[in-house]
Amino acid sequence: MTPRRIQAFLASWTPRFSPRLFRSVLIGLLVASIAIPLALVAVPYLEIFNDMAVQPKARPQSLFGYPDGRSLIVERAPAPGSIPMDHFPYTAEESGEQAEQLAGERLRSPLRPTISVLQQGRKLYNTFCTPCHGAEGQGDGGVAELFGAPPSLHTGAARALEDGRIFHVISRGRNTMPSYEDLLAVEERWRIVHYVRALQRALHPQDEDFER
Ligand code: HEC
Repeated sequence: MTPRRIQAFLASWTPRFSPRLFRSVLIGLLVASIAIPLALVAVPYLEIFNDMAVQPKARPQSLFGYPDGRSLIVERAPAPGSIPMDHFPYTAEESGEQAEQLAGERLRSPLRPTISVLQQGRKLYNTFCTPCHGAEGQGDGGVAELFGAPPSLHTGAARALEDGRIFHVISRGRNTMPSYEDLLAVEERWRIVHYVRALQRALHPQDEDFER
């Protein structure tokens, strides 16, 4: 390129002040200064691929519709026949003398009455049994009268009950005493049995209990 051509070339690139261009740039900057921050704020809320973040779902304690239009609290009764984890259904027959007798003969506690078993048994007994049977098993719990005053757990007859029979009474209930099968796991019921035995022994100590 000759110097002349270079000169002409450069001249064609030399910016010349143009009021129109200046105004456009000014307006452009103004618009951008508003639009860009707005866009930055909006970006986190944009859902281009929302990966199922928004979907109909049931929240605890909320009303949630059934397909047939009914609306119910979300927590529903478990499907019939479903079993909670770690729960072994008690298959002994319904309540009744015969079933109790069988349970007394056949069921043996899988636990040994260690201190920790007894302590857990006491906690469970105090929670579930005290209202009727009283803290010491005398049948004088706070609501005992409503349930036809349960018998003392310290009568000769009650002390003669086999462990399995007590387990059965807890599991199946008896007359006005409700079943605790749904509230207490199998091992929890056995812990209570051991604690009932300890209560009975406490009120009817044997010679060896005085030896130390
Ligand atoms: C709602 C009150 C109530 C609660 C709670 C209750 N019981 Fe009873 N229980 C009774 C009544 C009433 C009887 C007497 C039933 C009958 O023989 O008619 C009874 C009977 C018993 C017997 C048989 C006593 C005997 O001499 O034959 C045992 C053992 C027993 N309950 C243990 C328990 C244990 C353990 C718990 C806690 C898991 C418990 N009960 C919770 C009311 C209750």
